Amino acid sequence: MTGPERIKGGVATPVPHDSAVRHVRGEAVYVDDIPEPPGCLHAAFGLSERAHARILELDLTEVREAPGVVAVLTARDLPGANDVSASAHDEPLLAEDEVLFHGQPIFAVIAESHLAARRAARKARIRYQDLPAILTIDQALAAGSLLEPMREMVKGDPEAALAAAPRRLRGRVELGGQEHFYLEGQAALSVPGEGDEMTVHASSQHPTEIQHKVAHALGVPFNAVTVVVRRMGGGFGGKESQGNAPACLTAAAARLLGRPVKMRYDRDDDFVVTGKRHDFRIDYEVGFDDEGRLLAVVFDQAARCGWATDLSLPVCDRAMLHADNAYHLPHARIRSWRCRTHTVSNTAFRGFGGPQGMAGIERVMDHVAHELGLDPLEVRRRNFYDPPGGARVLTPYHMTVEDCVIADIVDELAESCGYARRRAEIAEWNARNPVIRRGLALTPVKFGISFTLTHLNQAAALVHVYTDGSVHLNHGGTEMGQGLFVKVAQVAAEAFQIDLDRVRITATDTGKAANTSATAASSGSDLNGMAVRDACEKIKRRLTAFAAERFQTSAEQVRFLPGRVRVGEEEIAFPDLVRMAWEARVPLSATGFYATPRISWDRAAGRGRPFYYFAYGAAATEAAIDALTGEWRIERVDILHDVGRSLNPAIDLGQIEGGFVQGMGWLTMEELVWDEAGRLRTHAPSTYKIPAAGDRPRRMNIRIWERGENREPTIHRSKAVGEPPLMLGISAWLALSDAAASCGPAYPALDAPATPERVLRAIARARGERWP
Ligand code: MTE
Ligand code: MOS
Repeated sequence: MTGPERIKGGVATPVPHDSAVRHVRGEAVYVDDIPEPPGCLHAAFGLSERAHARILELDLTEVREAPGVVAVLTARDLPGANDVSASAHDEPLLAEDEVLFHGQPIFAVIAESHLAARRAARKARIRYQDLPAILTIDQALAAGSLLEPMREMVKGDPEAALAAAPRRLRGRVELGGQEHFYLEGQAALSVPGEGDEMTVHASSQHPTEIQHKVAHALGVPFNAVTVVVRRMGGGFGGKESQGNAPACLTAAAARLLGRPVKMRYDRDDDFVVTGKRHDFRIDYEVGFDDEGRLLAVVFDQAARCGWATDLSLPVCDRAMLHADNAYHLPHARIRSWRCRTHTVSNTAFRGFGGPQGMAGIERVMDHVAHELGLDPLEVRRRNFYDPPGGARVLTPYHMTVEDCVIADIVDELAESCGYARRRAEIAEWNARNPVIRRGLALTPVKFGISFTLTHLNQAAALVHVYTDGSVHLNHGGTEMGQGLFVKVAQVAAEAFQIDLDRVRITATDTGKAANTSATAASSGSDLNGMAVRDACEKIKRRLTAFAAERFQTSAEQVRFLPGRVRVGEEEIAFPDLVRMAWEARVPLSATGFYATPRISWDRAAGRGRPFYYFAYGAAATEAAIDALTGEWRIERVDILHDVGRSLNPAIDLGQIEGGFVQGMGWLTMEELVWDEAGRLRTHAPSTYKIPAAGDRPRRMNIRIWERGENREPTIHRSKAVGEPPLMLGISAWLALSDAAASCGPAYPALDAPATPERVLRAIARARGERWP
């Protein structure tokens, strides 16, 4: 028998996202599309209208009497734990007697329809006694309002090195937060089963955490709760913990009423209730030499965490762990203040604090270059970590960087995008044009891959081979548009040497893969790809042993070829071998497991090897500003990004493009505005601007770095790609800064987001003008 030379859709082929056609046809099923079970009820929250207050009186009479209302629940009515926190047990599902931010859920309405629940929720009469509210980073620092004491990482003797440095600079940068703006809002549907059983359909990156939280909310063991996630319409970190509330509320109501209950947040509520990217303020002091080599840096990072702990501590840790980005800092001190404020509890967002830390050092590089009158790219190059084998490889957290390829990537990109020529051209243009000013910035990314909480770096999978040779695949990872499912299916197809369409992708289900981690930290395909391959290899070993025995040969004589298996001189179609094995009573199902090797992290000491490896990339962005109005446009971007050996170049290119645009949006146009009462004023697309198709740079040249390869034995030597490209967006912000810098002699110190107002302020700074 002969067969094809290659399977269709194996590893490294650019197959489209498995749901691409369903996405565009509107056929992909999200939680709100699941046909409602008979008797299904709908939930809505009643929200606090104060940032910090005691609830003196909660009059819900009119709410209860509103049309369609079946039940109204307060904290006292909940059947189990009133806790939806990710970690610290400081986040009640419904407020008890004190509210801690404007928008905090106080009560919930369960009604016959979504609209009836929402309308009724507005009819509450609540009497508050206002308490002092801490809203800003400044107020929190002044009041000593922190989630935990200041944390610090130190390498060498930064103060002595600063004192001895030939040159020194100080500065400050402010970085705004970011709303996730997933297209599908938070949603959950809870369906009660027999006895104490509950099935929850959730839009969550972390089904296991939902399972745990719902079990506590119901007072039942974990095995009574099954959480199913087919897909999310985007998560971006905003569904690591923020899905706990709708899941717990619907489950609690379903238990109390004995009926299925569904909840989906209205977009405005979603903005107001759920956490966002942390806004940061970073103060820096840097010592350097005349060539722009950094000798010492001290960073003081302050983050606005909001009213509850959520994931803020590891987010702020990751900001510290990326304060070096791709640069060797001989002496460094990085301090971090985690501010507790009476605002929404900020959470994970693509990059998980890394982007803020990285923006800090990129600002420093830019500032140092400006001070010395050097090309910023030259200053960056002089400070890169050495490639493998070099001496300048120790991070501020005392990990050795063993895989640094940033110099190669940057050289290749600078060449291909014509960096030097365009810099000269732009300088010439700016000398002749007073109004339209242009700027160009090329910035690197080095992003650490692994959860810093070491035990989260594990994954589980379940693989069944059916007797027709088709494969049913399940693992703990969740699909949020990033293409995890198709990549992992490609891994299974490759393992069995069968076409991709023989592998069925199924919903994530806590009953199939148990005790899993969030799909986060970009580790989805690293972890689940390995766990699935482990399961496939187990089944293959059984099939191999069976075939060798049946055909009287040795296991070494058994080989999986495309669509078939060669056993000695014979070739058998894969389904035929599977059927023979089944008849011989060989088990055709297996679980798989993976735990990332080589990592350790001592959080208290701020030392260790928190990352298995690093992902690298670089972007060169060109922008133009109008010096009269502050308006701007991002004209062009060139990107070269390292994904190791790509599992799927089509998906990876999509991640790189989307990541860049989302990072650019964060630093340039997305602006969150809270008023003095602590109320979010930008809570809909009418007031909060995310990049639209028209904001995409007209020229986007995105390439995967061809020489990329993971030095570590990851799944097919690929690298994680989910988060790192977001930080390529830093180049857009610094291109705007570069354009502003051309307007005057002083450093423009452009803050983010670089809205026209901030661009005008930066121009005024560059010119030494006062700004109101
Ligand atoms: N891409 C899409 N389309 N939608 C998303 O929600 N989330 C990002 C990134 N890319 C996201 C995305 C975030 S925050 C992470 S951590 C990773 O995908 C998670 O998936 P992975 O680990 O499989 O890369
Ligand atoms: Mo991504 S912020 O790790 O979910």
